[in-house]
Amino acid sequence: MTEVEDLREPSRRTRSRRHFLKGSIFGGLAACAATGSWAFLGAPHNVEVVRVLMPLRNLPESLVGKRIVQISDLHVGPIVSRDYLRDCLELVSSLEPDVVAITGDFVTYDGPARVDEAVSLLADIQPGKLATVAITGNHDFGSSRGGFANRKVADSLTEKLDEIGIRMLRNTAVEIEGLRLLGVDDFWGPTHELSETLSSGNADQPSVMLCHNPDFVDQPGWENYRGWILSGHTHGGQVRLPFCKPPILPIRNHDYTAGKVKLPGDRTLYVNRGLGYLRKVRLNVRPEITVFSLSRAAWIFDLRTLKGRALLQAGQTEAVEKSASNHTAELRNFSSSSVSSPRRFC
Ligand SMILES: [Fe+2]
Repeated sequence: MTEVEDLREPSRRTRSRRHFLKGSIFGGLAACAATGSWAFLGAPHNVEVVRVLMPLRNLPESLVGKRIVQISDLHVGPIVSRDYLRDCLELVSSLEPDVVAITGDFVTYDGPARVDEAVSLLADIQPGKLATVAITGNHDFGSSRGGFANRKVADSLTEKLDEIGIRMLRNTAVEIEGLRLLGVDDFWGPTHELSETLSSGNADQPSVMLCHNPDFVDQPGWENYRGWILSGHTHGGQVRLPFCKPPILPIRNHDYTAGKVKLPGDRTLYVNRGLGYLRKVRLNVRPEITVFSLSRAAWIFDLRTLKGRALLQAGQTEAVEKSASNHTAELRNFSSSSVSSPRRFC
Protein backbone atom coordinates (compact mmCIF):
# COMPACT_ATOMS: atom_id res chain seq x y z
CA MET A 1 0.00 0.00 0.00
CA THR A 2 1.42 3.37 -1.01
CA GLU A 3 1.62 6.33 1.33
CA VAL A 4 -1.11 8.22 -0.68
CA GLU A 5 -3.57 5.28 -0.50
CA ASP A 6 -2.91 5.00 3.19
CA LEU A 7 -3.88 8.65 3.71
CA ARG A 8 -7.25 8.17 1.87
CA GLU A 9 -8.17 5.20 4.07
CA PRO A 10 -9.98 6.48 7.25
CA SER A 11 -8.25 5.63 10.46
CA ARG A 12 -9.78 3.02 12.78
CA ARG A 13 -10.76 5.76 15.26
CA THR A 14 -12.56 7.78 12.53
CA ARG A 15 -14.45 4.68 11.40
CA SER A 16 -15.65 3.85 14.89
CA ARG A 17 -16.73 7.48 15.41
CA ARG A 18 -18.79 7.30 12.21
CA HIS A 19 -20.36 4.06 13.33
CA PHE A 20 -21.21 5.61 16.68
CA LEU A 21 -22.79 8.66 15.04
CA LYS A 22 -24.79 6.49 12.61
CA GLY A 23 -25.94 4.31 15.49
CA SER A 24 -26.95 7.34 17.56
CA ILE A 25 -28.90 8.89 14.69
CA PHE A 26 -30.73 5.64 13.88
CA GLY A 27 -31.33 4.99 17.57
CA GLY A 28 -32.72 8.51 18.03
CA LEU A 29 -34.97 8.19 14.99
CA ALA A 30 -36.22 4.81 16.16
CA ALA A 31 -36.96 6.23 19.63
CA CYS A 32 -38.82 9.19 18.09
CA ALA A 33 -40.83 6.87 15.84
CA ALA A 34 -41.70 4.61 18.80
CA THR A 35 -42.68 7.56 21.00
CA GLY A 36 -44.71 9.09 18.18
CA SER A 37 -46.51 5.83 17.49
CA TRP A 38 -47.30 5.41 21.15
CA ALA A 39 -48.49 9.03 21.49
CA PHE A 40 -50.85 8.72 18.52
CA LEU A 41 -51.92 5.08 18.66
CA GLY A 42 -51.57 3.72 22.20
CA ALA A 43 -51.50 6.49 24.79
CA PRO A 44 -54.85 8.14 23.90
CA HIS A 45 -56.62 4.97 25.13
CA ASN A 46 -54.33 3.99 28.00
CA VAL A 47 -56.84 4.77 30.75
CA GLU A 48 -55.79 5.15 34.36
CA VAL A 49 -58.14 4.65 37.28
CA VAL A 50 -57.05 7.13 39.94
CA ARG A 51 -58.24 6.59 43.50
CA VAL A 52 -58.58 9.59 45.78
CA LEU A 53 -59.77 9.86 49.36
CA MET A 54 -62.40 12.58 49.72
CA PRO A 55 -62.75 13.82 53.32
CA LEU A 56 -65.92 15.85 53.86
CA ARG A 57 -67.15 17.76 56.86
CA ASN A 58 -70.34 16.50 58.50
CA LEU A 59 -70.53 13.45 56.26
CA PRO A 60 -73.31 11.15 57.49
CA GLU A 61 -72.03 7.78 58.72
CA SER A 62 -74.14 6.04 56.08
CA LEU A 63 -72.08 7.64 53.30
CA VAL A 64 -68.65 6.76 54.66
CA GLY A 65 -66.85 4.56 52.12
CA LYS A 66 -69.30 5.32 49.31
CA ARG A 67 -67.77 5.94 45.91
CA ILE A 68 -68.16 8.82 43.52
CA VAL A 69 -66.79 7.89 40.10
CA GLN A 70 -65.96 10.89 37.94
CA ILE A 71 -65.56 10.86 34.18
CA SER A 72 -65.15 13.89 31.98
CA ASP A 73 -64.71 15.14 28.42
CA LEU A 74 -65.97 12.16 26.43
CA HIS A 75 -66.06 14.26 23.26
CA VAL A 76 -68.36 11.95 21.32
CA GLY A 77 -67.75 13.07 17.77
CA PRO A 78 -65.78 12.37 14.64
CA ILE A 79 -62.42 11.76 16.34
CA VAL A 80 -62.90 9.62 19.46
CA SER A 81 -63.38 5.88 18.97
CA ARG A 82 -66.83 4.68 19.99
CA ASP A 83 -65.47 1.25 21.02
CA TYR A 84 -62.96 2.92 23.29
CA LEU A 85 -65.64 5.02 25.00
CA ARG A 86 -67.88 1.98 25.36
CA ASP A 87 -65.06 0.13 27.10
CA CYS A 88 -64.48 3.09 29.40
CA LEU A 89 -68.14 3.13 30.38
CA GLU A 90 -68.03 -0.61 31.01
CA LEU A 91 -65.09 -0.01 33.30
CA VAL A 92 -67.03 2.69 35.14
CA SER A 93 -69.89 0.25 35.66
CA SER A 94 -67.50 -2.40 36.96
CA LEU A 95 -66.31 0.02 39.65
CA GLU A 96 -69.81 -0.17 41.18
CA PRO A 97 -70.19 3.55 41.76
CA ASP A 98 -72.60 4.93 44.30
CA VAL A 99 -72.60 8.20 42.42
CA VAL A 100 -71.48 8.74 38.83
CA ALA A 101 -70.43 12.32 38.13
CA ILE A 102 -69.88 13.44 34.53
CA THR A 103 -68.19 16.81 34.28
CA GLY A 104 -69.09 18.00 30.81
CA ASP A 105 -67.99 17.98 27.19
CA PHE A 106 -70.18 15.04 26.24
CA VAL A 107 -69.76 15.89 22.57
CA THR A 108 -67.56 17.59 20.05
CA TYR A 109 -70.55 19.22 18.43
CA ASP A 110 -70.97 19.19 14.68
CA GLY A 111 -74.72 18.64 14.45
CA PRO A 112 -77.75 17.35 16.39
CA ALA A 113 -76.86 13.73 15.62
CA ARG A 114 -73.89 13.99 17.99
CA VAL A 115 -76.20 14.62 20.91
CA ASP A 116 -78.23 11.51 20.06
CA GLU A 117 -75.03 9.52 19.67
CA ALA A 118 -73.75 10.57 23.10
CA VAL A 119 -77.10 9.79 24.72
CA SER A 120 -77.33 6.35 23.14
CA LEU A 121 -73.78 5.57 24.27
CA LEU A 122 -74.53 6.64 27.84
CA ALA A 123 -77.83 4.79 27.94
CA ASP A 124 -75.91 1.56 28.59
CA ILE A 125 -73.90 2.83 31.54
CA GLN A 126 -74.70 1.25 34.88
CA PRO A 127 -76.16 4.17 36.83
CA GLY A 128 -74.81 5.14 40.23
CA LYS A 129 -76.58 3.26 43.03
CA LEU A 130 -77.56 6.59 44.56
CA ALA A 131 -77.43 8.97 41.60
CA THR A 132 -75.93 9.80 38.24
CA VAL A 133 -75.35 13.51 37.84
CA ALA A 134 -73.72 15.66 35.18
CA ILE A 135 -73.02 19.18 34.02
CA THR A 136 -72.44 20.95 30.73
CA GLY A 137 -69.02 21.68 29.28
CA ASN A 138 -68.18 24.31 26.70
CA HIS A 139 -68.53 21.84 23.81
CA ASP A 140 -72.06 21.06 24.95
CA PHE A 141 -72.99 24.60 23.89
CA GLY A 142 -72.28 23.99 20.22
CA SER A 143 -69.16 24.40 18.18
CA SER A 144 -66.22 26.71 18.72
CA ARG A 145 -67.25 28.60 15.56
CA GLY A 146 -70.44 29.57 17.32
CA GLY A 147 -68.46 30.64 20.39
CA PHE A 148 -69.83 27.78 22.50
CA ALA A 149 -72.98 29.88 22.94
CA ASN A 150 -75.75 27.68 21.52
CA ARG A 151 -78.21 27.15 24.37
CA LYS A 152 -80.41 24.91 22.24
CA VAL A 153 -77.70 22.27 22.05
CA ALA A 154 -77.26 22.25 25.83
CA ASP A 155 -81.02 22.20 26.39
CA SER A 156 -81.50 19.30 23.99
CA LEU A 157 -78.68 17.35 25.65
CA THR A 158 -80.16 18.08 29.08
CA GLU A 159 -83.61 16.87 28.09
CA LYS A 160 -82.33 13.66 26.51
CA LEU A 161 -79.92 12.80 29.31
CA ASP A 162 -82.63 13.41 31.90
CA GLU A 163 -84.80 10.92 30.01
CA ILE A 164 -82.21 8.16 30.49
CA GLY A 165 -81.76 8.94 34.19
CA ILE A 166 -78.72 11.22 34.08
CA ARG A 167 -79.62 14.21 36.19
CA MET A 168 -78.22 17.38 34.69
CA LEU A 169 -77.31 19.92 37.35
CA ARG A 170 -77.69 23.25 35.64
CA ASN A 171 -77.04 25.94 38.20
CA THR A 172 -78.70 23.87 40.87
CA ALA A 173 -78.12 21.29 43.59
CA VAL A 174 -79.56 17.96 44.69
CA GLU A 175 -79.33 16.27 48.04
CA ILE A 176 -78.40 12.59 48.17
CA GLU A 177 -78.75 11.05 51.64
CA GLY A 178 -77.30 14.15 53.24
CA LEU A 179 -74.67 14.88 50.58
CA ARG A 180 -75.14 18.09 48.59
CA LEU A 181 -74.23 17.74 44.91
CA LEU A 182 -74.11 20.99 42.99
CA GLY A 183 -73.55 21.72 39.32
CA VAL A 184 -72.95 24.94 37.44
CA ASP A 185 -73.19 25.55 33.70
CA ASP A 186 -69.96 26.01 31.82
CA PHE A 187 -67.86 29.09 32.51
CA TRP A 188 -67.49 29.97 28.80
CA GLY A 189 -71.18 29.38 28.06
CA PRO A 190 -73.99 31.94 28.22
CA THR A 191 -76.06 30.46 31.07
CA HIS A 192 -73.85 29.98 34.14
CA GLU A 193 -75.14 31.30 37.47
CA LEU A 194 -72.45 30.70 40.04
CA SER A 195 -73.97 32.62 42.96
CA GLU A 196 -77.38 31.05 42.41
CA THR A 197 -75.81 27.60 42.28
CA LEU A 198 -73.76 28.08 45.41
CA SER A 199 -76.80 29.24 47.34
CA SER A 200 -78.77 26.12 46.33
CA GLY A 201 -79.46 23.55 49.00
CA ASN A 202 -78.18 23.46 52.54
CA ALA A 203 -74.67 24.91 52.83
CA ASP A 204 -74.05 23.07 56.11
CA GLN A 205 -74.22 19.74 54.35
CA PRO A 206 -71.08 18.08 52.97
CA SER A 207 -70.77 19.46 49.46
CA VAL A 208 -69.36 18.43 46.11
CA MET A 209 -69.61 20.90 43.22
CA LEU A 210 -69.30 19.91 39.56
CA CYS A 211 -67.74 22.68 37.53
CA HIS A 212 -66.35 21.93 34.07
CA ASN A 213 -63.75 24.68 33.75
CA PRO A 214 -61.42 24.94 36.76
CA ASP A 215 -60.81 28.66 36.09
CA PHE A 216 -64.26 29.18 37.58
CA VAL A 217 -62.85 28.63 41.09
CA ASP A 218 -61.03 31.98 40.89
CA GLN A 219 -64.24 33.92 40.31
CA PRO A 220 -65.95 35.80 43.15
CA GLY A 221 -68.84 34.10 44.93
CA TRP A 222 -67.19 31.14 46.64
CA GLU A 223 -66.77 32.85 50.01
CA ASN A 224 -69.21 30.61 51.88
CA TYR A 225 -68.54 27.38 50.02
CA ARG A 226 -66.67 24.61 51.78
CA GLY A 227 -66.13 21.32 50.07
CA TRP A 228 -64.81 19.71 46.91
CA ILE A 229 -64.98 20.94 43.34
CA LEU A 230 -64.70 18.42 40.49
CA SER A 231 -63.57 19.73 37.13
CA GLY A 232 -62.34 18.57 33.74
CA HIS A 233 -61.85 20.64 30.58
CA THR A 234 -58.03 20.65 30.46
CA HIS A 235 -57.55 17.00 29.37
CA GLY A 236 -54.43 17.38 31.53
CA GLY A 237 -52.89 19.19 28.56
CA GLN A 238 -52.83 15.87 26.63
CA VAL A 239 -49.11 16.17 25.86
CA ARG A 240 -46.37 16.79 28.39
CA LEU A 241 -42.68 16.48 27.64
CA PRO A 242 -40.43 15.54 30.57
CA PHE A 243 -39.75 18.45 32.93
CA CYS A 244 -42.08 20.71 30.92
CA LYS A 245 -45.61 21.94 31.36
CA PRO A 246 -48.10 21.03 28.63
CA PRO A 247 -47.67 23.50 25.76
CA ILE A 248 -51.41 23.95 25.16
CA LEU A 249 -53.85 24.55 27.99
CA PRO A 250 -57.31 26.11 27.63
CA ILE A 251 -57.19 27.70 31.08
CA ARG A 252 -55.80 30.90 32.55
CA ASN A 253 -54.49 29.43 35.78
CA HIS A 254 -52.03 26.70 34.89
CA ASP A 255 -51.99 25.46 38.49
CA TYR A 256 -55.24 23.76 37.56
CA THR A 257 -53.86 21.50 34.85
CA ALA A 258 -54.67 18.16 36.53
CA GLY A 259 -55.09 16.46 39.89
CA LYS A 260 -55.80 17.74 43.38
CA VAL A 261 -55.29 21.38 44.30
CA LYS A 262 -55.89 22.91 47.72
CA LEU A 263 -57.70 26.23 47.36
CA PRO A 264 -58.22 29.05 49.83
CA GLY A 265 -61.36 28.88 51.96
CA ASP A 266 -61.48 25.18 52.79
CA ARG A 267 -62.06 24.17 49.17
CA THR A 268 -60.38 21.32 47.35
CA LEU A 269 -60.30 21.23 43.56
CA TYR A 270 -59.82 18.05 41.58
CA VAL A 271 -59.17 18.28 37.82
CA ASN A 272 -59.84 15.05 35.92
CA ARG A 273 -57.73 14.54 32.77
CA GLY A 274 -60.72 13.41 30.72
CA LEU A 275 -61.31 10.39 28.51
CA GLY A 276 -61.63 11.90 25.06
CA TYR A 277 -59.66 14.36 23.00
CA LEU A 278 -59.96 16.89 20.22
CA ARG A 279 -56.83 15.59 18.47
CA LYS A 280 -55.96 11.95 18.93
CA VAL A 281 -52.68 12.34 20.74
CA ARG A 282 -51.55 11.97 24.34
CA LEU A 283 -48.09 11.78 25.85
CA ASN A 284 -47.35 11.40 29.57
CA VAL A 285 -50.97 12.39 30.25
CA ARG A 286 -53.18 9.35 30.54
CA PRO A 287 -56.94 9.52 30.17
CA GLU A 288 -58.54 9.16 33.57
CA ILE A 289 -61.40 7.74 35.55
CA THR A 290 -61.38 9.02 39.13
CA VAL A 291 -62.78 7.08 42.05
CA PHE A 292 -63.38 9.19 45.14
CA SER A 293 -63.96 7.38 48.41
CA LEU A 294 -65.99 9.44 50.83
CA SER A 295 -64.70 9.76 54.37
CA ARG A 296 -65.48 11.95 57.31
CA ALA A 297 -63.05 14.82 57.76
CA ALA A 298 -61.54 14.16 61.18
CA TRP A 299 -61.88 16.71 63.95
CA ILE A 300 -59.11 17.47 66.38
CA PHE A 301 -58.97 20.30 68.84
CA ASP A 302 -56.59 23.14 69.23
CA LEU A 303 -55.70 22.76 72.91
CA ARG A 304 -53.79 26.05 72.99
CA THR A 305 -56.93 28.10 72.45
CA LEU A 306 -59.36 25.60 74.01
CA LYS A 307 -61.89 26.75 71.46
CA GLY A 308 -62.22 23.38 69.85
CA ARG A 309 -61.19 24.81 66.52
CA ALA A 310 -61.36 22.07 63.95
CA LEU A 311 -58.27 21.67 61.82
CA LEU A 312 -60.02 20.79 58.68
CA GLN A 313 -58.14 22.56 55.95
CA ALA A 314 -57.63 20.07 53.20
CA GLY A 315 -53.89 20.72 53.33
CA GLN A 316 -53.90 19.44 56.91
CA THR A 317 -56.19 16.56 56.24
CA GLU A 318 -53.43 14.04 55.90
CA ALA A 319 -51.90 14.86 59.28
CA VAL A 320 -55.31 14.98 60.89
CA GLU A 321 -56.28 11.66 59.48
CA LYS A 322 -53.07 10.04 60.63
CA SER A 323 -53.94 11.05 64.17
CA ALA A 324 -57.49 9.83 63.94
CA SER A 325 -57.41 6.12 64.58
CA ASN A 326 -60.83 5.42 63.13
CA HIS A 327 -59.62 6.60 59.75
CA THR A 328 -56.35 4.75 59.67
CA ALA A 329 -57.66 1.55 58.17
CA GLU A 330 -59.49 3.44 55.47
CA LEU A 331 -56.39 5.38 54.57
CA ARG A 332 -54.40 2.18 54.36
CA ASN A 333 -56.82 0.89 51.75
CA PHE A 334 -56.44 3.94 49.60
CA SER A 335 -53.29 5.02 47.90
CA SER A 336 -53.61 8.42 46.26
CA SER A 337 -53.11 6.85 42.87
CA SER A 338 -53.58 3.23 42.02
CA VAL A 339 -54.00 1.96 38.56
CA SER A 340 -55.96 -0.42 36.44
CA SER A 341 -56.93 -0.17 32.80
CA PRO A 342 -59.67 -1.29 30.48
CA ARG A 343 -58.91 -4.62 29.00
CA ARG A 344 -58.46 -3.64 25.41
CA PHE A 345 -56.49 -0.46 25.82
CA CYS A 346 -53.54 -1.24 28.07
FE1 LIG B 1 -62.95 18.84 26.70
